[in-house]
Amino acid sequence: MKLQVGILSTSAKVGSTRRLREVLTARGHEAPVLRPKDLRILVQDDQPVLLYKGQRLARPDAVIPRIGTSKTFFGTALVQQFEQMGVFTLNSAQAIAASRNKLRAIQQLSRHGIGLPETVFLSSRADVVSAVECVGGVPVIIKLLEGTQGIGVMLAESQEGATAILETLRKTGQDVLVQRFVAESRGRDVRVLVVGGRVVAAVRRVAQGAEFRSNVHRGSKALPIVDLDPAYAETARKAAQILGLAVAGVDILEGRDGPLLVEVNSSPSIAGMEEVTGLDLASPIVDYLERNVHLRPLDVAQRVTVRRGYGVAEVPVTEGSPLTGQTLGQIGLGDRGLRTVCVLRDGDAVIDQDDGLQLREGDRLVLFGLLSSVRDLLPTHGPDRRPGGSEGVPPGA
Ligand SMILES: Nc1ncnc2c1ncn2[C@@H]1O[C@H](COP(=O)(O)OP(=O)(O)O)[C@@H](O)[C@H]1O
Ligand SMILES: [Mg+2]
Repeated sequence: MKLQVGILSTSAKVGSTRRLREVLTARGHEAPVLRPKDLRILVQDDQPVLLYKGQRLARPDAVIPRIGTSKTFFGTALVQQFEQMGVFTLNSAQAIAASRNKLRAIQQLSRHGIGLPETVFLSSRADVVSAVECVGGVPVIIKLLEGTQGIGVMLAESQEGATAILETLRKTGQDVLVQRFVAESRGRDVRVLVVGGRVVAAVRRVAQGAEFRSNVHRGSKALPIVDLDPAYAETARKAAQILGLAVAGVDILEGRDGPLLVEVNSSPSIAGMEEVTGLDLASPIVDYLERNVHLRPLDVAQRVTVRRGYGVAEVPVTEGSPLTGQTLGQIGLGDRGLRTVCVLRDGDAVIDQDDGLQLREGDRLVLFGLLSSVRDLLPTHGPDRRPGGSEGVPPGA
């Protein structure tokens, strides 16, 4: 099967783009480089179109997005247009956008038991001192939401320093997050490359001199990790899965109590990592693409809601819930016009459930069907044990 795989990249000379092309062409595929600046998006009813150098672009079989952080908006818009045209995109527009914003990414990851450094995000008018206290006091990391290559990551050693940085950034209208400085990982981190849900390579990056950032662009030295700690592998794999990225470079700090994820990159360097590890990393990416090019996973919740009143929703099995101890069969979901997508239990999804599966307190039942029928199953009393539950000051206090 010969494929036409467009690589969305600013230049064929970029190392990672060059490597992907090498592997694709060696396997008999065509691999044109599509430069964003040559493309134009044309939105019209019923017919998504891309213009390439002024001409209508014929639909390729697949696209590999290699999008620089300075081009996120246009880049993801291009990827979305390819998706509308029915093209397989290695990473989806939605997943790229979700990972690109550091705050949004860790927010999305925060319900899944992935280690994250305490992070606070606040209104530009809120009190700075209390924000710093929130993450355990100085030193703190102050970070732009969409920085890259270490640019936009600052270390404030004192409260005065933190205040000065935050006030300056606010003046220029920049939104920033304040994060606990993981001192035990100062100048070091682990970069894990995940492809199609598998860890294919990992390196440890160590900053040189007084630098606290371990980005290669800040002059750090990278060393291959051959026996990656399974906890780190699991963190990386889970993060890529939750954000929906087929290819991801996950940056993890080495915290005292284990991995602490700081960032997920959707266009990670492949060539650089190949150099350090001596592994061929372009091939597993092309393998994944070849295997999945005809697959179109979709967001069920989004698709089915085209039909009025339908959707996918969750029913928590709370303390004292009448659902506790009942089997799926006993609830009579079918009679209510509902289908079970899965049961969320102990941080995992039970997907091979049958009518005999007995519900336990703490389970969350994910159902598809008429939302009014789902509503009838929702608890009306009892404490809500979901994360971010009912403890704390009531709103309006
Ligand atoms: N909370 C933190 N504590 C300690 N070091 C950090 C922290 N956040 C980032 N760093 C350092 O700064 C580097 C860059 O941060 P990261 O969030 O990955 O942004 P970038 O997109 O610029 O790579 C990390 O690789 C790490 O070395
Ligand atoms: Mg990084």
